[in-house]
Amino acid sequence: MIIEPRMRGFICLTAQPKGSEQSVKNQIEYVKSKGTIAGAKKVLVIGASTGFGLASRITSAFGSDAATIGVFFEKEASEGKTASPGWYNSAAFENEAHKAGLYAKSINGDAFSNEVKRQTLDLIKADLGQVDLIIYSLASPVRLNPNTGVLHRSVLKPIGQTFTNKTVDFHTGKVSEVSIEPCNEEDIVNTVAVMGGEDWAMWIDALKAENLLAEGATTVAYSYIGPSLTEAVYRKGTIGRAKDHLEATAFTISDSLADINGKAYVSVNKALVTQASSAIPVIPLYISLLYKIMKEKGIHEGCIEQIQRLYQQRLYTGEPMITDEKGRIRVDDWEMREDVQSQVAALWEQATTENLAEIGDLEGYRNDFYNLFGFGFDGVDYKADTNELVKVPSIS
Ligand code: NAI
Ligand code: NA
Repeated sequence: MIIEPRMRGFICLTAQPKGSEQSVKNQIEYVKSKGTIAGAKKVLVIGASTGFGLASRITSAFGSDAATIGVFFEKEASEGKTASPGWYNSAAFENEAHKAGLYAKSINGDAFSNEVKRQTLDLIKADLGQVDLIIYSLASPVRLNPNTGVLHRSVLKPIGQTFTNKTVDFHTGKVSEVSIEPCNEEDIVNTVAVMGGEDWAMWIDALKAENLLAEGATTVAYSYIGPSLTEAVYRKGTIGRAKDHLEATAFTISDSLADINGKAYVSVNKALVTQASSAIPVIPLYISLLYKIMKEKGIHEGCIEQIQRLYQQRLYTGEPMITDEKGRIRVDDWEMREDVQSQVAALWEQATTENLAEIGDLEGYRNDFYNLFGFGFDGVDYKADTNELVKVPSIS
């Protein structure tokens, strides 16, 4: 069938397999162009199908020739209905990895569940023996805690007071004011349960209990800080509490890995267009201004540039790890530069529906958004009849 983007609110209901394949190939080429990384050889990526997790899987495989196991929660196509983008990304990734002679298998299911953890442990045991890097890159609105049976839903709300600021509908370009009511106590608990570090620690505990972590194994989860503009709804809001918890969990995990010289890190990454971030009010306006400034300065990065830099210039330099005062790795350093932030803040004051296309990078935002679903890539014939029933080779 001929697949076109079908939008509903902030999500796209369709995905394009050929474009997703092109996206993966472009990322692979980028990693290869940056040379070899003396990184881990057996890698587990939890949240491996889109965004930073996919970029991590690609960087491990094509930067360090690593065997990778990817865990994700994606939808396979059914007759007349496309698969989700992460499904197509993963199919393309496995195909490219196999062509390059690399081990790559995937598990599609709920990473929060005991069943998927069990399946993953068994696969590592059977095929790899142990892993030496575990990337934790889940972004989810819900988590069923397998031990308590409680279903937690995360919310993106300020804490304590109503937050009012500008936002943009990136489809129409309309800038408006948005007010977000503060959360209640339960919202905080739920958001921390979904996006905090509890599940990360459960994964690492489970791996360690069955001796599936190699000596010196490293695990990395991703966090975000951002500017004061978005603080009330992000870092000092419910999601920020979850990130505080995630960051604190890095220390407890590191303690639990002391006997195998293992280490847990949080890497603070840059704000980028992903399915997760498009849903947060205020953030799309910030990102469209940020992109404009960072592109002008020649320091713009996407997920793959961020993660390639994380690996090559932070994790695997052969030197002692450089972290901030809270023990975090920072690859949001360029985003947070004083000159970048002061220019974004000035543009923020001026931004209106009339001028945003000019003073901000609305087009870049939209392109990135369409790219997430496999649309808008050069070299893809979008008019051609496309088979949507693509298989991820390792998933039957
Ligand atoms: P994403 O939405 O692109 O990726 C999420 C991944 O998690 C996908 O592979 C998805 O299949 C998987 N997933 C979701 N629920 C799952 C479940 N129940 N079981 C198994 N897999 C599941 O998100 P993105 O943006 O790459 O986020 C990854 C991490 O990076 C998050 O912790 C996020 O907070 C963080 N981050 C994101 C930034 C951004 O601007 N997008 C900036 C800095 C950090
Ligand atoms: Na991800």
